[in-house]
Formats: sequence, structure tokens, C-alpha cells
Amino acid sequence: MISLLKLTYIVWFNLLSGKIASAHIIDSSHVKRDTATSSKTGSPSPCRCAPGQDCFPPVQTWALLNSSVSGRLVNVISSAAFCNGLPGGCSEAQWASAVLRNNIPGAMNQANWEQDYVSSQDSPSVCFRNTIQPPSNTPQNCSQGSGNVPLFAIIAESAQDIQKGVQFAQRHNLRLTIKSSGHDYLGRSTAKNALLISTHKLQNITFSDHFTIGGKDKGSVVTVGSGVALNTLYTATKAKGKIFVGGTAATVVAASGYVQGAGHSALSPAYGLAVDNVLEFTVVVANGTLLTVNEVKNSDLFWAMRGGGAGSQVQMVEDSLEPLRVGVSKKRHHI
Ligand SMILES: *[C@@H]1O[C@H](CO)[C@@H](O)[C@H](O)[C@H]1NC(C)=O
Ligand SMILES: *[C@@H]1O[C@H](CO)[C@@H](O)[C@H](O)[C@H]1NC(C)=O
Ligand SMILES: *[C@@H]1O[C@H](CO)[C@@H](O)[C@H](O)[C@H]1NC(C)=O
Ligand SMILES: *[C@@H]1O[C@H](CO)[C@@H](O)[C@H](O)[C@H]1NC(C)=O
Repeated sequence: MISLLKLTYIVWFNLLSGKIASAHIIDSSHVKRDTATSSKTGSPSPCRCAPGQDCFPPVQTWALLNSSVSGRLVNVISSAAFCNGLPGGCSEAQWASAVLRNNIPGAMNQANWEQDYVSSQDSPSVCFRNTIQPPSNTPQNCSQGSGNVPLFAIIAESAQDIQKGVQFAQRHNLRLTIKSSGHDYLGRSTAKNALLISTHKLQNITFSDHFTIGGKDKGSVVTVGSGVALNTLYTATKAKGKIFVGGTAATVVAASGYVQGAGHSALSPAYGLAVDNVLEFTVVVANGTLLTVNEVKNSDLFWAMRGGGAGSQVQMVEDSLEPLRVGVSKKRHHI
């Protein structure tokens, strides 16, 4: 126990530098609404552009976005629609699997967020698993509507992919959502008619014994991509004889909304919140710029991100520190 604490202490000072895959998300109230105009009237659009509206990008424009992200643009479907597409549907275990949900761009950890209650007053537009519709649980052919899920997703493999997505959403006045693992209890990783940026593939974990910030040696640090799940990171740090201040849910992503929301941990009574242990963030801000954020570079943003709440400031690409959290509320997903 003592040696663990010592290791933790070392990690506390050093380990929490993480890189975050960023996709900048800002509060919609801060967004300039006049950036997109109706092509017919030229007047400012009060809402994000949706399919069927003049301002919504045509197929060819989406194809250009797809090319700019090396073909990593995919159509998004709900997890129920995904299961319906499998022979025999999903098993109960598959439906409940956070690992499976991490791998399906449109799947939230809690499927209710995919159901589209807002636009469907009486009942949601998507069924739950397979063709079984709760609460009766009798087989029926319920409709698989589009649900409260995005239209397209960029399965980002680099910060540049995230930048392209943020810039595209900004340019075309589209709703933007970010998903690392989709655990957000408020469903802020999904939104209807949105462009989703998935950071799931940002799986880099890099250790440094002498991580420097402003010329100062901060010691041992781990830098993690914003797709790295906590269990993966715990395994990697354990192999190095180290630990970091992280949460308990295996499939929650460290450098994501978890950290931006502060990051509770069993180690917090001794070492503070996860965000207290972060040394640096690599983020994409709303104008598509990739920024390094630490106590000497963009220090105001560093301050804001360490307590400002998930999704309110930036989209992380990587954290060099402790796990960061990148959560976004539905309403804040608009760029
Ligand atoms: C994006 O491009 C890739 C590669 O050409 C293609 O497989 C994929 O279907 C395209 N995505 C969309 C949404 O059209
Ligand atoms: C669902 O639709 C299929 C194909 O139309 C049909 O064969 C089946 O009987 C339907 N099931 C129910 C429960 O209505
Ligand atoms: C992940 O690490 C590899 C090898 O160091 C590097 O080439 C790649 O750019 C990194 N990816 C990201 C998203 O940082
Ligand atoms: C983008 O935003 C960042 C952070 O506010 C700022 O430093 C940068 O100058 C902006 N870039 C452009 C092109 O506006």
C-alpha cells in the first residue's frame, strides 16, 4: 500500500499529462449565428442547418469532406437499427455491452438518448433492441426511424480529421457532436441531424519520464488519446509500475468528458480530482485551430478547462496528463 501510494504520488505529479483529441465544442450562446445564411434569403439562420433546408450541404459537399478526411466519413444509425441489421438481432449481452456501444458511432451508453423523444411527442421514433418494443416486450414490427442520432460521423484518426470536421460544421452551420465513448449521463454526445466526430480511434498512449512545460521538468507523464478507455490505460500504467487518478468504469475514456467534468476517483481523497493532475491538453477549438493548452501556453483556456465542464470549451485530441474529460451537452454541441 505504501509503495502504491508512492507510485501514485509520482504519477500524480507527472502522469496526468494527457493529450486529448479535440473537437471544439462551445456553448451555443457563444456561437455567432450569422455565420450561416439561407442561400435564398441571405438572412441569418437562427438554427443549425438540417436536411431539406437550402443551407444544408449537398451530397457533393459531403463527398468533399469525406475526401478531406481520407474516406473516414460514415453514415450514422442508432444502436437499435444496428442490431436490427444483424442476423437474429443483438443478444441481450451485446445490447448491454459498453464495448460494443463504443464501437458503433451512433450508439450511446444509454440507448434512451438515441430515441428522439423531442420530435416524437407520443413515442420515440426508434425501437429498442431488435424488434422487441418495451414495455410489453412482445415482438412487433416497430419502425426504425432516424432517432436522435447524428447523420454522419467522422471516425477521426488524427487531429487534422477533427479540425476538418469542426471547420465543416462551422462553415455550414451544422450541429456538431463529439463522442469518445458516449457515457455522458445527459446524452450530450448525440444530436439529431448533427455531424458527429468520433475520437474512438485515437488510441495512442505515450509515456515520458521528463515531460517539460515551459522548460520545467514535470517528471513522469502519460499522454493519452481521447479514445483510450480507462481499463486500457490502467493496464498500460500498471505495466510501468505506475497509476493515475482515474475513474472506475472500464470503458469510460480518460481524455474526454470525464476529465473536463473534473474526474472523480477512488484516489481523489489523497490526490485530488483527475483534472487536478492534468498538465496539458491538446485541443481543437471552435474555429478549427489545434492548440496546446497548459500553464504557460493558452493558460486562460487551461484554467477554464480544469473545471469549466465537459464540452464547454474545446474538443480534446489528447491529454498529456491525467485523463481529461470531453463531455458535451446536447445543447452545447452546436458549433
Ligand atoms: C467516404 O468514402 C469512403 C471511401 O471512398 C467510402 O467507403 C464511404 O462510403 C464514404 N462515406 C460516405 C458517407 O459516403
Ligand atoms: C414483421 O414483419 C415481417 C415481414 O413483413 C412479418 O413476416 C412478421 O410477421 C411481422 N411480425 C410481427 C410481429 O408483426
Ligand atoms: C500515434 O502515435 C504514432 C506513433 O508515434 C504517430 O505516428 C501518430 O501520429 C499518433 N497519432 C496521434 C493521433 O497522435
Ligand atoms: C482561433 O481561436 C484561437 C483561440 O481563441 C485563437 O488563438 C486563434 O487566433 C483563432 N484563429 C483564427 C484564425 O481566428
